[in-house]
Amino acid sequence: MIKNNLKAGIFDSGVGGLSVVKSLLDEHQFSEIIYYGDTARVPYGTKDKNTIIRYSLEALEFFKNFDIDILITACNTVSAYAIDELRKQAPFEVIGVIEPGVIALQNKLKDKNASILITGTNATIKSGKYKRLLNDKGYNNILELATGLFVPLVEEKIYSGKIMDATMEYYFDKIKKPDALIMGCTHFPLISSEYKKFFKDTVLLHSGDAIVEYLKNNFDFNAKYEKTNIKYFATENPEHLKNIAKEWLK
Ligand code: DGL
Repeated sequence: MIKNNLKAGIFDSGVGGLSVVKSLLDEHQFSEIIYYGDTARVPYGTKDKNTIIRYSLEALEFFKNFDIDILITACNTVSAYAIDELRKQAPFEVIGVIEPGVIALQNKLKDKNASILITGTNATIKSGKYKRLLNDKGYNNILELATGLFVPLVEEKIYSGKIMDATMEYYFDKIKKPDALIMGCTHFPLISSEYKKFFKDTVLLHSGDAIVEYLKNNFDFNAKYEKTNIKYFATENPEHLKNIAKEWLK
């Protein structure tokens, strides 16, 4: 399908989904992006399943006002709990980031005995979804670790320095270096250079890159649009979202 316009909706609990937008912009896959961040209610990663589904369905109602071709739930936490419900009720295609992330890992990691560390919010880790899908693909050497403190740090624009170092140490000091690590939260790619300091020889997986690959392989989204027009919406303080977008997407 080569269309003159291809419009994606990007849904995240807050500003973190911009890390997925960045990957999409680099590939020029869409002519328009409608970004919705539920900044009034972030974080989702500390909430329970029913709340996450309810918030996600409210976001879906918002996206129904736009003529989008596809909804991408950039948020791993939403992808862990609400994809089935969203798919049931959406009049457009819906994709999450977890399945694409697992496929991206499979493409990079041929050895089924390789060690894999999954990091994410409490809710994502509790769902066990990454682990289940990886087990289905034959990977069994898996460790899951909730690293939710990174979310408020990134929201506060603390990407490095003493507090970040201490948090990295707190989570990872005693962890054996894995062969691959899934940054299973939209916020984590923003601190990938910090992850890299700790995990020098580890393959790091990023939801944004996984989505780009997944779209290329599963949809006929082969057009390259010269310009992507982005409209930002937030449930609270849209100026903060726009300012962060200016900083992250430059
Ligand atoms: N967007 C969420 C995710 O990717 C992280 C932030 C939150 O807890 O809401 O899981």
